[in-house]
Amino acid sequence: MRVLSIETSCDETAAAIVEWDGQSATVPVNTVSSQASLHAKWGGVVPQLAAREHIRNIVPVIEETLERGNFTQDDLDAIAVTAGPGLMPALVVGVSAAKTLALAWQKPLIGIQHLEGHIYANLLRPDTELRFPLIALVVSGGHTQLVLMKEDFQYEILGETQDDAAGEAYDKVAKLLGLPYPGGPQIDKRADAFQKSHSEESIKEFTDKFPRPMLTSDNFDFSFSGLKTAVLYSLKKETKETMQDEEFISAMCHAFQEATVDVLVGKTKKALKKLSPKTFVIAGGVSANTRLRSRLEKMITKEFPETQFLTPDFAYSLDNAAMIGIAAALRLERMTADEKKELLKNSVSLNPDANLPLA
Ligand code: KG4
Ligand code: ZN
Repeated sequence: MRVLSIETSCDETAAAIVEWDGQSATVPVNTVSSQASLHAKWGGVVPQLAAREHIRNIVPVIEETLERGNFTQDDLDAIAVTAGPGLMPALVVGVSAAKTLALAWQKPLIGIQHLEGHIYANLLRPDTELRFPLIALVVSGGHTQLVLMKEDFQYEILGETQDDAAGEAYDKVAKLLGLPYPGGPQIDKRADAFQKSHSEESIKEFTDKFPRPMLTSDNFDFSFSGLKTAVLYSLKKETKETMQDEEFISAMCHAFQEATVDVLVGKTKKALKKLSPKTFVIAGGVSANTRLRSRLEKMITKEFPETQFLTPDFAYSLDNAAMIGIAAALRLERMTADEKKELLKNSVSLNPDANLPLA
């Protein structure tokens, strides 16, 4: 099965070709056109600007994807698109493009939930299999959730953030520190360099500087807004000189990251202990974080050796269309011929939903 997939939920215009043979996936073409530098000027994603850029880029990105793989409409079995959640003006562009192509080419069109795509991105590594029950730690710019899956496409939210998402906290704290958008990779890089160039003992005051919100609460929920406020209040006490001191900024990156990762790892551990899943995956943009990956790996190898730990390839950690294509291929595989015919008939009625839940 070969799927053309499209993703425009936030600030990347993306298209991909995904092939699924019933056992493993290949991605002959993955195109991502990022608008990050445009939004950096505003310190975050501006929805109307994102929509304008998607409109400008969507046709060239799809054309390039087909051309690079030497594919025509005749080579495609279906079209997939992110239906939500995301920024409404941005989602509309991808969905409209996908509907137009599905109608013109008479292909089944399938809408995919963005976070489902992030979870299934873990299948884009060679020789991987999702064994159930599975727990996913979904950490993106808009979501932070622990999700239990007893089988494919069945989701039970164990807990989620009560305020900011982890990625959002990274971006907001980076802004407080004067670092450019998106802040996650900046903080990751600085914290990593800081930690590697100092002894554990000498940076302990920073490691322990901030609170670990809800770490010991008796549930699987998260909260990151208080942590961000703690960073803000702590910075207010600093002089202008200190705020321009690169070493100090890196120390604060480390301090914030340790608090965040402690909470994410701590809550994951609690969920693994209670539910003993066969697989644990991380999903969403923050899954690219090097410290989160290494701390989770260490904890799982040591304390839950029976659980297989999967991480998406770095190429598929951030927003991309290949993750939408693999989730679509698996959903299509489970459909009867009649259900596929329905998809073909209903393609015009697919509508984006900015708050589409995992279901
Ligand atoms: O999944 P994603 O690309 O878009 C959404 O669906 O939201 O996630 C974007 C988020 C941003 O908040 C970005 O700062 C964060 O992921 N992020 C990171 C890293 N790379 C991206 N956060 C921490 N460390 C990283 N290396
Ligand atoms: Zn995402």
